[in-house]
Amino acid sequence: MEVARAIQSVRSLVKVARGDGKRIGLVPTMGALHIGHISLIEAAVQQTDFVVVSVFVNPTQFCPGEDFEKYPRPLDADCEICRKAGADVVFAPTADQMYPAENITWVTVERLTERLCGQFRPGHFRGVTTVCTKLFNIVLPDAAFFGQKDAQQAIVIKRMVADLNMPLEIVVCPTVREPDGLAVSSRNKYLTDQQRKDATLIYKSLQRCQEMVDGGVTNPTKIVAEMRRVLEQIQAAKIEYVSIVDGETLQSVEKIASKVLAAVAVQIGPARLIDNIILDTPNQ
Ligand code: PAJ
Repeated sequence: MEVARAIQSVRSLVKVARGDGKRIGLVPTMGALHIGHISLIEAAVQQTDFVVVSVFVNPTQFCPGEDFEKYPRPLDADCEICRKAGADVVFAPTADQMYPAENITWVTVERLTERLCGQFRPGHFRGVTTVCTKLFNIVLPDAAFFGQKDAQQAIVIKRMVADLNMPLEIVVCPTVREPDGLAVSSRNKYLTDQQRKDATLIYKSLQRCQEMVDGGVTNPTKIVAEMRRVLEQIQAAKIEYVSIVDGETLQSVEKIASKVLAAVAVQIGPARLIDNIILDTPNQ
């Protein structure tokens, strides 16, 4: 496995692989890799012939006051994880490789980015779509792999690729969870033992939502109220949102029907945690 620190290096490696007729897969990450990321690398290894994992803590997607400086950067351990998972290249550029000058060109997806996390993290999705466009232009992958864990991100990227005719496939992989249901995240490390215990209520609230739907409840307001009741048991939690929305447009739904997404964001102590499920509905 190669580690490319420069844009030119990863481009040359991909060019050779493409010349050999290989299908190129890209797994964009910010590093601090865990089993959630590994599941994406494994999917890429299965579905493509040459896998590039990018590791870049992208400054333009962090809002002022967020954890950009604090974000873990264990590059050597990340490379080892990628090698074991079967990646061919780790592309780990420095910030001045990716942003040599003040960035004044942005890719913005409208509407879809105004809701859910977008309301609480102004500019976040603009940073994500811009850096993903740059990564797609650098690596020229045939397929890029994203996690359902960040449902809104996956929806926004899919729409960007469709709207801008970007010639690649977006593959969305299932959320990997801890045995107690908590979605695996680099930010779980920020939690104290008590907060970590409390955090299991996030997935419990989503399970409760599914139970209510299974029991025939179709009124989202009723379900959201019950989910909030579950989340309010977390000490000192700040609930950002509890939303039941259409899984493509992210618009609120009046009645639970097919392709509905239940999504929550909660700040527990120093960590902002998000999770979601696609509801299994009778009409699907
Ligand atoms: P990061 O948070 O490192 O996540 C990289 C990818 O891993 C994302 O597609 C995310 O959805 C996926 N992922 C994280 N936790 C997961 C889990 N528990 N199960 C399944 N997939 C999981 O998302 C980003 O980085 C950045 O915004 C990025 C796309 C790299 C742009 O900078």
